[in-house]
Amino acid sequence: MTIKLAVLKETKSNEKRVAATPDTVKKLITLGCFVTVESGAGEQASISDQHYKDAGATIAKTAAEALKKAQIILKVQAPDEADLKAYPAESLVIGLLSPFGNETYLKKLAEHKLNAFSMELVPRITRAQSMDVLSSQSNLAGYKSVLDACEYYGKAFPMMMTAAGTIPPAKAFVMGAGVAGLQAIATAKRLGAVVTATDVRPAAKEQVESLGGSFVAVEDDEFKQAETAGGYAKEMSKEYQAKQAALVADHIAKQDIVITTALIPGRPAPKLISEDMVKSMKKGSVIVDMAVETGGNCALSKPGDVVEKHGVTIIGHLNVPSRLAADSSALYARNLLNLLGLIIDTSSGQLSINWEDDIIKGIAVVKDGKLIHPHFKGPSKAAAKTETKTKAKTKPKTTTKTPAKAAAPAAKKSTPKKAPAKKAVKKTAPKTAPAKKKTTSSVKK
Ligand code: NAI
Repeated sequence: MTIKLAVLKETKSNEKRVAATPDTVKKLITLGCFVTVESGAGEQASISDQHYKDAGATIAKTAAEALKKAQIILKVQAPDEADLKAYPAESLVIGLLSPFGNETYLKKLAEHKLNAFSMELVPRITRAQSMDVLSSQSNLAGYKSVLDACEYYGKAFPMMMTAAGTIPPAKAFVMGAGVAGLQAIATAKRLGAVVTATDVRPAAKEQVESLGGSFVAVEDDEFKQAETAGGYAKEMSKEYQAKQAALVADHIAKQDIVITTALIPGRPAPKLISEDMVKSMKKGSVIVDMAVETGGNCALSKPGDVVEKHGVTIIGHLNVPSRLAADSSALYARNLLNLLGLIIDTSSGQLSINWEDDIIKGIAVVKDGKLIHPHFKGPSKAAAKTETKTKAKTKPKTTTKTPAKAAAPAAKKSTPKKAPAKKAVKKTAPKTAPAKKKTTSSVKK
């Protein structure tokens, strides 16, 4: 017996990733799958149909053809509602389904008699680390955010001592030292910047310092208790926010590059940079707001746009992992492969899902045409409303790690060793005079 598995081309704008690579296709075949890839699925991630064919996949001309008799369908983004009728009943859809605030869509999946796993909900337990798409994608996004800053910063990052004089190093400030923030710190350090960082979780201090950054934070009693049992940040009190704003206002005025990654699960992103703070920065400085999809950390950022305000460039790119589509696809595809290893019985070549497994319980939103996830079924609309709209903004409440355990993997995952250091050097030649390039207040890349 073989399992028929389909890999579809993504249809949403800003999405260049693909859910399988030739490498994972080969392994899926070894697991017992018959893999069909929709033609062009990997094109934007630099993977041709021929690459997939060479790996043993069959190429389908259309999505409908790929979906015929499919038992498992691999996606990056949630399938469009209009396309669901082509999905065979009882098949299993796996992707970033953006479940929070999207209960109506989840019900549609159920009405089409599908099964659905939402990869944002992988619990952050040790056993699930190889399937943790939030980490794999945030890590790359943190790296790319620094390169995006370089592109608009009209000066060099490292200190340069030349016969013609000395160029001082750039000062980079990273706000939010989770997975993306730690990778941004490591990347900015590798490029030669003097890096400072802030967070509201005490565990972040050691991680920042281990990467060579200096930690800047209001370390009062509230700070000491700001980490939840799940390892995430709490929303801070108004008093703390005021103290933090005063500290940031003073610090930010001296920075050249600011990368913001601060998120609070289930809440809008905290506003950390006011218009006055932007005004206080030097002309030519750059802010990269990675929280732009959940409202932004900077008051002046615009989702999907690069704007110039008070002489400061503010970058608000959407779907940052997709901006490194080849690497983010490779990691995402491996995350999926690791999950499939858990649900395919290689001896029988059949799907064998243990619905009681903690990982499956975490990600299974729809089973046999029924919405089964406790977070999304039932009348808890009020709670759901507070959740943010895209997956990268929200985290499962069911995480079982302890704060101590929580801290370690992120630090580990963000060490320079694991990052594509060579690429960083290769791709980061800063363009000169970015301010002149932008004649309007909005510059699309
Ligand atoms: P996230 O994406 O939810 O938030 C990013 C960062 O923003 C966090 O470090 C948070 O503390 C910080 N933040 C929130 N409000 C802030 C404010 N007002 N000012 C400054 N910073 C603020 O976080 P992410 O990257 O998902 O990591 C969350 C936790 O999960 C961390 O403790 C990390 O170590 C842990 N983790 C555990 C893993 C595992 O056990 N498998 C894997 C990856 C991360």
